[in-house]
Amino acid sequence: MSNTNSLSVVILAAGQGTRMKSTTPKVLHEISGKSMLFHAIDAAQEVSNDITVVLYHQAERIQKEIETHYENIHFHMQDAKKYPGTGGAMKGVKTQNSRTLILNGDMPLITKDSLLALTSGDADINMSVIQLEDPSGYGRVIIEHGQVKEIVEQKDCNKTQLLTKTVNAGIYSVNTALLECYIPQLNNNNAQAEYYLTDIVKMAVDEGKIVNPIYVQEEEFKGVNSKLDLAAAEEIMQRRIRTEWMKAGVTMRLPETIYIDCRAKFEGECILENGVSIQGASTIRSSHIKANSVVESSTLENSDLGPMGRVRPDSMLIDTHIGNFVEIKKSTLRGVKAGHLSYIGDATVEEGSNIGAGVITCNYDGKNKYKTIIGKNVFVGSDTQLVAPVTIEDDVMIAAGSTINKNVEKGALAISRAPMKTIKNFFYKFFEITKNGTK
Ligand code: UD1
Ligand code: MG
Repeated sequence: MSNTNSLSVVILAAGQGTRMKSTTPKVLHEISGKSMLFHAIDAAQEVSNDITVVLYHQAERIQKEIETHYENIHFHMQDAKKYPGTGGAMKGVKTQNSRTLILNGDMPLITKDSLLALTSGDADINMSVIQLEDPSGYGRVIIEHGQVKEIVEQKDCNKTQLLTKTVNAGIYSVNTALLECYIPQLNNNNAQAEYYLTDIVKMAVDEGKIVNPIYVQEEEFKGVNSKLDLAAAEEIMQRRIRTEWMKAGVTMRLPETIYIDCRAKFEGECILENGVSIQGASTIRSSHIKANSVVESSTLENSDLGPMGRVRPDSMLIDTHIGNFVEIKKSTLRGVKAGHLSYIGDATVEEGSNIGAGVITCNYDGKNKYKTIIGKNVFVGSDTQLVAPVTIEDDVMIAAGSTINKNVEKGALAISRAPMKTIKNFFYKFFEITKNGTK
């Protein structure tokens, strides 16, 4: 079944997600930098070339979001008023292949391997089953002699059924012809007056079809319904991401404190100290990121950052040293040192240049952003303000405390300071005391 041409996938994402208490649709909530639905779509794409997403609540917003990231995803609008429920969601869905895998959009932790396990063998229906200490909230799976007999939703359970700890994880792979035959026959005679997809199991069993339980890991099949679930899923995802990168050779100090976006990449030998956060599609090559630093959608190569450094989106640091309390935004630095307390935004700084403590690029005038260009071997003295747009050519020295609002030509010294004055014995006159402290 690993042939992507023999399997269709339907992802159910029409539910409202009330328990998230959010105006953002449930499936668009992000885990490790990617929405839950996109995690599900990515896993689905590994096993199928025919993917349909079922939408209803905030359908337009979700469809638009999918279309900006993916091609070839089909959409189906559920008539949720007339046909509510997971079975209602499948009404009218057409899939192209002989087998259909049905997933929930709120299961971001599923992997290709377990999807393949669910499509293996030739039972009429494979369904995912988990053993839980606390089965509450889930549909209970009634199994006799190794064969599934029925799924009973919690609200429809009798007292004995409620005690069943074998539950429906909510993913099924079904013979498509059978699915097309059963879906129109579903009814809503149940406690929630909904059309339950789970009822196809009983229909199949009554016709003597084979329904195979596939026991799966709870961790992968956890549905996210609340912000609590979201945080728990994020923890699991983070553990997976960190484990993969440590196996690939990334050194992590106190890994539990480190956050890594699922789109981030590491190459060469990298060290991440405690509290580091790597966000967005960042690339880190042979670099050392020190404690509590943040990198957002940027590239670092042969560089070191922090502790407590911040690199904001669209920056590129090559052969560069960035120290504590330095913020870099949308800037390219090659062979640069910026050791302390600076803001470098919308700038390029070339090889051999040194940015002193407290240097600020004044890149914004309240309306627009402007660029600062600093050439090679420029020494920018501490507490300099570079008022953009401004260009500093190669081999320039800028005196500490200068406000630079004109371009500086190659080889020059730029200094802008009010001349310093000293007034002798001012202290004693001001406090009306003598030099040895008496009145
Ligand atoms: C469902 C199963 C239950 C299983 C549980 C696992 C049914 C009847 N019950 O229950 O046996 O233990 O999943 O998590 O299927 N959705 C739609 N349209 C709807 C309703 C839901 O597309 O009208 C989508 C949701 O967006 C979600 C998925 O279907 O992605 C599951 O819906 P949810 O309401 O969470 O199902 P449960 O009641 O938890
Ligand atoms: Mg429900």
